[in-house]
Amino acid sequence: MRLSYHITTYGCQMNVHDSEVMAGLLEDCGYSLAAEPEQADLIVLNTCCVRETAEERILGRLGELQRAKRANPDLILVVAGCLGQEEGAAERIRRRAAQVDLIMGTHNLYRLPELVAEVRRKRRAKAAGRRQAAPAGGPLVEVLPGKGEGVHEGLPIRREGGVKAWVTIMYGCDNFCSYCIVPYVRGRERSRLPEDVRREVEGLAASGYREVMLLGQNVNSYGSDLEPGPGRSFAGLLRELDGVPGLLRIRYTTSHPRNFTDDIIEAVADSARVCENFHLPAQSGSTRVLGLMNRRYTRDDYLGLIGRIRSRVAGAGFTTDLIVGYPGETAADFEDTLSLVREARFDSAFTFAYSPRVGTPAAKLPDQIPAEVKQERLERLIEAQNGVSLEINRAEVGRTVEVLVEGTAEKAPSSVAGRSRTNKLVIAEPGEGRTVSDLLGREVKVRVERATTWSLEGRLVP
Ligand code: SAH
Ligand code: SF4
Ligand code: F3S
Repeated sequence: MRLSYHITTYGCQMNVHDSEVMAGLLEDCGYSLAAEPEQADLIVLNTCCVRETAEERILGRLGELQRAKRANPDLILVVAGCLGQEEGAAERIRRRAAQVDLIMGTHNLYRLPELVAEVRRKRRAKAAGRRQAAPAGGPLVEVLPGKGEGVHEGLPIRREGGVKAWVTIMYGCDNFCSYCIVPYVRGRERSRLPEDVRREVEGLAASGYREVMLLGQNVNSYGSDLEPGPGRSFAGLLRELDGVPGLLRIRYTTSHPRNFTDDIIEAVADSARVCENFHLPAQSGSTRVLGLMNRRYTRDDYLGLIGRIRSRVAGAGFTTDLIVGYPGETAADFEDTLSLVREARFDSAFTFAYSPRVGTPAAKLPDQIPAEVKQERLERLIEAQNGVSLEINRAEVGRTVEVLVEGTAEKAPSSVAGRSRTNKLVIAEPGEGRTVSDLLGREVKVRVERATTWSLEGRLVP
């Protein structure tokens, strides 16, 4: 009988893609995908620890899975991803969910099949009475954190969907923003070779994918750890990939405002396929707070960058990440963030209340902001951004946008859903004689008739 697996993914796109690799690894050694976690022989939680809320949700889920484990003692429960990699987290996991079998973190991802086999071996040994084979009360296998060295090429990937594909271009982060745990759980920056990235993207385009999303915590630094050469900078890589036949769109995330150089702006402006969507996490609108956060740019630098991009790239759209309630953030600092939202005119923003992460410098600062204040600021910020988003989207009514069709609209199954080049969700009626499947993976023109804060709706231009 074939064994089955289920993976639940938390966190960012790096994790979503890592889950595709883990699925590929498991399918290569004979596992098949289970429809529901409760039916699986192997459950992987691919975890995130960027904020406390993420961690709490995962620990809660692990608690729930104890029941599944009692119902099926052969079930293997794996904690992969960033929480597994965090110092001290293994201890918290064990306390909340003693029945986890394998804690493996991010750096040992490629070893998943081998580690699962080791769990099985130890379990058999335990069943045979050799109790010393497993540490008392802990997981059967726990991999030591490691630092995340090198780049592993050639891993199998089981991709979700057939229109857009995620492609990692670099791993890790060297920025050490003072609030952020990512550099500690993802290790130092390591770039893939441009020829390996190009080969993967060519393969994807040849098998029908139309869009690639290039992934890295800080894609502008791509290539800085490689010997200089063609394609060995982010701008160079974009120019290189722009020539891949069959591809319609190239996106990337995340780019840091600190080193979004003119070189990159020029590459985006010159490339037909690279989309005009700039996701530039500002984090705060206060130069003082930005300094405390170790972001290495000022409010004026940030607005200057947006201005430079707007003047060079027609139709540029901007999205961002913002944190409220960083330790010591005053009412005036917060007002600076509110005014940044209005001045920069972001299409949309991901907004977060600051969450202290053990091991980061900001967590040790004395003047932590009370939860109610953070919540109140968060609500005001969301309201301000929603106002701007709606205004910008309303201005699209009557215009025509180019949309890459990705599937059917969730709420209107006869309509198609896709994204504009600036990454807005667009829902459109396909019109007479055309079905969703005719249009899947094609770039179509949609005349916008209605706008909400989060999406545009309209009909296809024949
Ligand atoms: N590498 C990316 C983002 C990584 S994490 C970048 O630099 O933009 C995604 C977002 O989570 C960050 O942009 C930040 O806004 C938020 N974030 C990170 N650590 C956080 C913390 N401790 N509390 C609240 N939000 C945090
Ligand atoms: Fe975290 Fe900063 Fe690195 Fe982004 S750039 S992952 S916010 S340390
Ligand atoms: Fe979370 Fe790890 Fe991404 S901590 S945000 S899943 S890099």
